[in-house]
Amino acid sequence: MVLAEDVHKSFGRLRVLNGITLRVEAGQVMCLLGPSGSGKSTFLRCINHLEKIDAGRLSVDGRLVGYAQSGQRLRELGEKEVARQRRDVGMVFQRFNLFPHMTALENVIEAPVRVRGRDRRTARTDGVRLLERVGLADKRDCYPAQLSGGQQQRVAIARALAMEPKLMLFDEPTSALDPELVGEVLDVMRQLARDGMTMVVVTHEIGFAREVGDLAVFMDGGVVVESGDPQRVLVHPEHERTRAFLAKVL
Ligand SMILES: Nc1ncnc2c1ncn2[C@@H]1O[C@H](COP(=O)(O)OP(=O)(O)OP(=O)(O)O)[C@@H](O)[C@H]1O
Ligand SMILES: [Mg+2]
Repeated sequence: MVLAEDVHKSFGRLRVLNGITLRVEAGQVMCLLGPSGSGKSTFLRCINHLEKIDAGRLSVDGRLVGYAQSGQRLRELGEKEVARQRRDVGMVFQRFNLFPHMTALENVIEAPVRVRGRDRRTARTDGVRLLERVGLADKRDCYPAQLSGGQQQRVAIARALAMEPKLMLFDEPTSALDPELVGEVLDVMRQLARDGMTMVVVTHEIGFAREVGDLAVFMDGGVVVESGDPQRVLVHPEHERTRAFLAKVL
């Protein structure tokens, strides 16, 4: 579902991704860990083409991100084509970025109606079902300000799912939450993984990564230091850098 081969990305002279090679199969959950500034968010943003890579190859579901290939030639996709590609990838950020002037349900159906051209009635029926799936059927008419952080984050997940993505990206979805609200969001993500969604999750929730992750990746300085079975990487890491990092987060 995701294939990164020697991906490089710099911001001016700052080299942020220094040759990332990773593979996520359909239905797998990859958990990405690493110190602040190691390039985790940048990598997620590249997968979603919010950032353009400088070198290497990156594809989602067998299609190059941001490019069309014909023979040996690469052609950069236009804005419309990029937008179409991006629809297949759902993203949930650290900070709840719901539309404040819309109810939970309106947030969920906004993109299907506006971008996909769904009729409002069907979108509402589907939206209510999605809110049920994240345990918020009773909150559909609430505005974000009337919801807890955990509830807002679950609406954000429902909103991403409303576009029927092939892949979901999560960037520290629980790190801005009060501790007692973390569990409810992780539960929704756990269920999503069980339902077979392919997920790339930046998280420092080691328990979640061990239990739900098929693959754990430790990044530092824009490179993958080690990756593999979460039990191995997170419990018996081979590298000193991974050990030192885990000692700090645990
Ligand atoms: N748009 C940008 N312009 C310039 N520099 C950037 C930009 N985005 C990120 N960076 C820099 O790239 C580096 C990696 O940032 P990134 O956000 O990917 O790290 P991260 O691993 O997600 O860190 P954190 O755990 O703090 O979220 C940082 O040094 C950051 O300052
Ligand atoms: Mg980040």
